[in-house]
Amino acid sequence: MSGAHYVTVTIRHRSWNQGGRISVWGFKPLSEVPRVKLSIENVGKRYSGNVWALRRFSLELKPGVLGLLGPNGAGKTTLMNILATITRASEGTVTWNGVDVAKDPNALRAVLGYLPQDFGVYPNLSAQEFLEYLAAVKGLDATAARRRIDQLLNVVNLADVRGRPLGGFSGGMKQRVGIAQALLNDPRLLIVDEPTAGLDPEERVRFRNLLSDLSGERIVILSTHIVSDVEATATDIALISNGALVAHASPEDLLQRVDGRVWEWVIPSADLNAVKQVYRVSNTARRSDGVHVRVLSEEPPQGARPVAPTLEDAYLDALSVYRTGVAA
Ligand SMILES: Nc1ncnc2c1ncn2[C@@H]1O[C@H](COP(=O)(O)OP(=O)(O)OP(=O)(O)O)[C@@H](O)[C@H]1O
Ligand SMILES: [Mg+2]
Repeated sequence: MSGAHYVTVTIRHRSWNQGGRISVWGFKPLSEVPRVKLSIENVGKRYSGNVWALRRFSLELKPGVLGLLGPNGAGKTTLMNILATITRASEGTVTWNGVDVAKDPNALRAVLGYLPQDFGVYPNLSAQEFLEYLAAVKGLDATAARRRIDQLLNVVNLADVRGRPLGGFSGGMKQRVGIAQALLNDPRLLIVDEPTAGLDPEERVRFRNLLSDLSGERIVILSTHIVSDVEATATDIALISNGALVAHASPEDLLQRVDGRVWEWVIPSADLNAVKQVYRVSNTARRSDGVHVRVLSEEPPQGARPVAPTLEDAYLDALSVYRTGVAA
């Protein structure tokens, strides 16, 4: 083992693992970890009833965390199901390290971790049994799998309840079991569809930290419509709307696009509707001195002060430019 570099995961948040540094089971010297590349070329998906959920969608992914952001019905789950080889594309190709996944899905499946949006559990199994069952399905060696499950139950903060039947778990606890099962095989491609839905704020922060720590030599794709989830973790953001790619850029680039066009001022609450008629409102907050409105506008509204853009502003702007072809 001397002289080799090893792939490890650092858990930043103390309570995930008593402040420790956990190693990912199944270490491989970095020299043996192949570089990974996922290419999506002109992918389209037509469901029955002639519904096109995706159209001419192209994206090239290298190691890092991609935040897939888009409104309800945009096509996020459809895309993820295609990438996870659950659904076939109606047109176009997806290649994993140069291999067409429709023709040879097994190379990708061996290194895939997937948390579906509608993740279900067997209610009569305990968390430990459920993870052991899935490890067996994935063909993992039983002894190594048990060690890995121990680590993962700590990582998702469920070690204390590992023996309890899953039927008695809360929604957020089940979601954390889902996160653990997606990490069982130390995946090179990790796809998580709305992973933070149902998590309380503390668990959401833990999950974000875990994702950042996990990246390295793997591709992580995280779908959400909660902009703050990707703000903290994503190295790249893909905005999707109506099945089309609206933008693919770094968070910094997206912020740059709205710089100088975000304004804030305080109005009486009776004026709010009138302001909404004129401006693209990105946020409102009721305070004791009135309503603090935040808008996207080329020209400064009267009495407004310029404010630093957030990713939420950039997201709203990109979507409205896509829909109307006009910037705020
Ligand atoms: N099995 C299906 N049959 C027919 N239409 C479908 C099917 N699954 C999805 N669709 C349609 O495809 C489009 C994209 O759906 P998809 O579930 O991929 O969106 P999404 O971005 O994941 O949305 P959400 O944020 O609500 O999860 C929607 O118009 C949806 O109604
Ligand atoms: Mg979805």
